[in-house]
Amino acid sequence: MRRKLAAGNWKMNGTLASLGEVQALSRSHTAPKVDILLCPPTPLIWPMASARDGDQVMVGAQDCHANTSGAHTGDVSAAMVKEAGATAVILGHSERRTDHGETSELVENKVNAVWKQDLLAVICLGETLKEREDGDTLAVVGEQLAASTPEGANGENTVIAYEPVWAIGTGLVPTLDQIAEVHDFLRAELTARFGETTANDIRLLYGGSVKASNAAEIFAVSNVDGALVGGASLKADDFSPIVTALEASV
Ligand code: 13P
Repeated sequence: MRRKLAAGNWKMNGTLASLGEVQALSRSHTAPKVDILLCPPTPLIWPMASARDGDQVMVGAQDCHANTSGAHTGDVSAAMVKEAGATAVILGHSERRTDHGETSELVENKVNAVWKQDLLAVICLGETLKEREDGDTLAVVGEQLAASTPEGANGENTVIAYEPVWAIGTGLVPTLDQIAEVHDFLRAELTARFGETTANDIRLLYGGSVKASNAAEIFAVSNVDGALVGGASLKADDFSPIVTALEASV
């Protein structure tokens, strides 16, 4: 069975003073029934990995370059974030696709770079409000899934996060039926491409305005294997109940 995953994306938030949150989270979940991952800004990866109380909270990066090294000012490689203590990397977040013009083809190259370091790739996809209103949601996420996910994806190296762009940071959440429709579709697409056994091992996260008050109902939706949480992952007091809700769904 897929082990559920509660992942937090701190985005460009947090300082050394925030590391008490990871300690509090570690102490609240000493033997979690689910995987827990926090992805801080790059300079905090090493301090966060060092500040944890035990290794029950995994630390991840929010992006990396597709190349191993070279003249790429401001970028970091998968090997570098691994050395800093990351075991996972978020790739293709809609904010990277929008702010930095990242294409699914680039994301696919980054996934390969992450796999080469034996890190877990958390591949993000999701439709804009206009795309949803135009009835293009499944076409858009299907295309992003196909183009961002290299051959060789499996449950050990890949997590897919469905994050509707219009639900990120807005307080808006799709209906449970809408989430189920997309997650069932993603599972079917993975099955068609990688076969049932492999597809059934790949975790599908929902992301976009997840908080303690809506987590349990979202975790009850078919093919939702956890969440990728932004704002509500910054404080242990907000994230811990989400982890607990996920554990209750196991
Ligand atoms: P929010 O939970 O703040 O809506 O952000 C979701 C997200 O983008 C996580 O990657």
